[in-house]
Amino acid sequence: MKKILKIVFVVLLLGFIVIQFINRPDKTTTTDITPGHITKVMTVPANVESILKRSCYDCHSDHTVWPWYTSIAPASWLVGDDVTKGRKKMNFSQWDKIPAAKREARLNEICEQIKAEEMPLPPYLILHGDAKLSQADKDILCQWVEIELKKLEDANPE
Ligand code: HEC
Repeated sequence: MKKILKIVFVVLLLGFIVIQFINRPDKTTTTDITPGHITKVMTVPANVESILKRSCYDCHSDHTVWPWYTSIAPASWLVGDDVTKGRKKMNFSQWDKIPAAKREARLNEICEQIKAEEMPLPPYLILHGDAKLSQADKDILCQWVEIELKKLEDANPE
């Protein structure tokens, strides 16, 4: 019996080692603020920026912080996937790449998603308690969204 346990343990350990080499996420990150960054393209007050930074940048910007456990599979796969999908959907570092026609919808969604507690992704909050949005944070973001939407509308009256 002891021998079987030993074999099982060794097989699991080898399996764990092998998966470390599979599908490693591309852990890119930068502190560069490119000309297409949301803070360059729109007016982002400091209090709004600090909320976005604290609660959204890990998945929706190129400024992702990759903690040690994101180097270890299978956690690395889950986090890598969230970041890839999050950036693809909306990347604050490349706000200029969002077609003008879609920016209004994206802004609207920001307020909707946070009000519905869909964002930040709930599993993320387990390890990032500080990213949880207070009611005040939500109000600040939604008021900012309103202001920016109004600007877009004034610039493109229908
Ligand atoms: C842990 C990663 C993570 C964090 C943190 C995060 N998001 Fe997301 N977000 C995602 C992923 C992944 C998607 C894409 C979901 C999909 O395609 O189904 C997404 C999608 C979105 C969308 C598009 C929703 C849609 O239906 O099209 C908005 C808007 C959004 N997030 C806003 C935010 C805001 C605002 C924050 C910060 C308050 C935030 N997210 C924090 C991962 C994250």
